[in-house]
Amino acid sequence: MRSLLVTGGAGFIGSNFVRMVLDEHADTKVVNYDSLTYAGNLENLKGYMDNPRHVFVKGDICDAALVKQTVEEHNIDAIVHFAAESHVDRSLVEPGVFIETNVQGTLTLLKVALEKQMERFVQVSTDEVYGSLGTEGFFTESTPLSPNSPYSASKAAADMLVQAYGHSWGLRYNITRCSNNYGQYQFPEKMIPLMINNALNDKELPVYGDGLYVRDWLYVYDHCTAVWKVLTEAQPGTVYNIGGNNEKTNLEVVGLILERLGKPASLIRHVKDRPGHDRRYAIDSSKMMSELGWRPSVTFEEGIRQTIDWYLSNGDWLKHVVSGQYQSYYEKMYDGR
Ligand code: NAD
Ligand code: TYD
Repeated sequence: MRSLLVTGGAGFIGSNFVRMVLDEHADTKVVNYDSLTYAGNLENLKGYMDNPRHVFVKGDICDAALVKQTVEEHNIDAIVHFAAESHVDRSLVEPGVFIETNVQGTLTLLKVALEKQMERFVQVSTDEVYGSLGTEGFFTESTPLSPNSPYSASKAAADMLVQAYGHSWGLRYNITRCSNNYGQYQFPEKMIPLMINNALNDKELPVYGDGLYVRDWLYVYDHCTAVWKVLTEAQPGTVYNIGGNNEKTNLEVVGLILERLGKPASLIRHVKDRPGHDRRYAIDSSKMMSELGWRPSVTFEEGIRQTIDWYLSNGDWLKHVVSGQYQSYYEKMYDGR
């Protein structure tokens, strides 16, 4: 049986990945290593905590001793590294923790992966490391890294450390760079669940600037299948871009949410823009498709419908995550914006 260390497996994408592996890959044990920051939530793993192939370890990826002990105790073969501080807006307010977790934490994992001569280290990265595009063109795997926010700078630094470990000591790694994800269990600091939650509560939808910023949206399950393919089929030392070929302006996405929820467009409020806001992301995923035969399973229209329906039928989950600290976060970020 393969034994995987999944970092950040209580977060949005990590928990979707853990559930997918447990559901679809009976030959794999998952050791889910997560420090449970504001973004980590064991409710995301409801129904899976007692699975005999799932072990949860509460720990920080910067804690070298605990990482090593966990890897030894569970005979880990490979690491799939999702754990991160992941929100651009937070990185603009408090960049230090992004360096700590995303750079220092990645380095800690790399040291252990190398020492244990692991079969693979998959660095789950982001298209944001490439910077911003104009109206034309796509990010390819050879686009130079040019990150613009403290978040993307910390991810780019981590990616380069991973490459350096491969180059210098032969660590068997892959790096995936995915576009914006959406789907079940996404914390409502990110645009789509934030807008759904506000619309459900008849609160204004805070669209930054002119709302014509473009993101390429990918359904979270499709990101997870892509990461699995890279882990199990890719040659070591390679980078893969992952995207949905679904470019939408923020206003288009917000419009779809309002329409599906039957709420009026008058809820949209244009607010002060994010500093240094990247105008457009667009991904060329042809390498994933031609080399690994990966394809997204749903269209954006289908995925967003399923996502909105999930939030509608998981009111308790949403109620829990927006109580307490979330309220002060929201006030700090949005009041007077
Ligand atoms: P998330 O913020 O929802 O989850 C992050 C998880 O990491 C949480 O469970 C948190 O508790 C855990 N964590 C944070 N710091 C930790 C630490 N020091 N030690 C151990 N655990 C820690 O993030 P997400 O949206 O699920 O993103 C997961 C990964 O995918 C990140 O690496 C992110 O850069 C990348 N990514 C995200 C997107 C997206 O659209 N969300 C797109 C491309 C790539
Ligand atoms: P976000 O979900 O934070 O992802 P990222 O910044 O990593 O792309 O934001 C997606 C887009 O939505 C981005 O252009 C910023 C915009 N946005 C808003 O207009 N209002 C909001 O309240 C948030 C959180 C984001």
